[in-house]
Amino acid sequence: MNNISIYVHTPFCKHKCYYCDFASFANNEDLINEYYKSLKKEIILRKDEINSREISTVYFGGGTPSYVDSKYIVDIMDILKSEFNINKDAEITIEANPESITDEKLENYKIAGFNRISMGLQSANNDTLKKIGRIHTYEKFLSSYELCKSAGFDNINVDLMFSLPNETLNDFIDSLEEVIMISPSHISTYSLILEEGTKLYDNYRKNNIIIDDTLDRKMYHYCINKLKEYDYEQYEISNFAKKGYESRHNMSCWDFEDYIGFGSNASGFNNNIRKTNKSNIKDYINDLNNDTLPIMEKTQLNIKDLIGEYIMLGLRKIKGIDIDKINKKFNIDFTDTYKDKIENLKNHNLVTIEDNHFRLTYKGLDFANTVMVEFI
Ligand SMILES: C[S@@+](CC[C@H](N)C(=O)[O-])C[C@H]1O[C@@H](n2cnc3c(N)ncnc32)[C@H](O)[C@@H]1O
Ligand code: SF4
Repeated sequence: MNNISIYVHTPFCKHKCYYCDFASFANNEDLINEYYKSLKKEIILRKDEINSREISTVYFGGGTPSYVDSKYIVDIMDILKSEFNINKDAEITIEANPESITDEKLENYKIAGFNRISMGLQSANNDTLKKIGRIHTYEKFLSSYELCKSAGFDNINVDLMFSLPNETLNDFIDSLEEVIMISPSHISTYSLILEEGTKLYDNYRKNNIIIDDTLDRKMYHYCINKLKEYDYEQYEISNFAKKGYESRHNMSCWDFEDYIGFGSNASGFNNNIRKTNKSNIKDYINDLNNDTLPIMEKTQLNIKDLIGEYIMLGLRKIKGIDIDKINKKFNIDFTDTYKDKIENLKNHNLVTIEDNHFRLTYKGLDFANTVMVEFI
């Protein structure tokens, strides 16, 4: 059987950022202890889904895993190590908010086997940070980043966002340059998505503010070109890495490999079945207290869906889709099956086929969604 990856969700944050619609909640500290008890139970109940398959990557995401006491994280990691066959070179990541990183937590993560940290910065401008509801300053980020380095973590991702409230091109350039200066091994840059139900969405709606698409694209392309100058290779629409530091966990998702998601709202994809857990923390805990799996959705994908998802995820990678691989995996002739669509997209200079790979062009990066929907 093939390798498989594990995702573990932490649904807690100290404070809800104004743009964020992830399954993360503030003011639920009274549920933390119960939640991790349930999480352990879920892992044990579902261990047959993994069996002896080798685990190539583990990702603790959220929410903010660094917000909770590190004993919970270490405990879960111990269970994963005792129940599953984790490759000795597995990439093991934890997401962290600069506000909650401490020496002690980092030491515990290191001992538990974590070898990669993903930190949310979003902006190096303190006014912007305040406007989006972040609870740390840029200076706090810098000191937390240094703590990670001193604790021996050399593989650190920094998340940046752009098109933030009132952000000018120069503001974004300043943020990007600050981050380039500290030279993290990996940088993710996300264009702000106004998600319904968030404070920022309501505020933009109320005040008739819209995101300036032209400026947004200027920021994105500035970012691509600037990061290239500093030897960051863009390997996915939003992800850039120094040589050898691409996120193996994320790559395995874009390569359509199997993964299991544990915890509230966690999704997984294994043996062509997609499963998603309930996102309400109390429902998740209650189900497990009753020895029931907290599954919200379970879908067996048919061949058409599988090919559609494979193309959608594969196009996110800058190197694109290996045509031999997709042909072999689904027993199709990709270029023949999609001849008309490919021709049409090529005529608009949105996609290209080079070295037997089907991928987005530089222009196509701005129209990724338009291209992807052609195949689903
Ligand atoms: C789970 S969070 C990262 C870890 C940690 N909770 C933190 O915020 O510091 C994942 C990342 O998604 C990005 N993100 C979240 N909501 C977004 C939105 N509405 N638009 C664009 N990017 C977003 C942010 O860059 C964020 O750091
Ligand atoms: S961005 Fe991170 S810290 Fe902010 S609410 Fe979302 S998950 Fe929590």
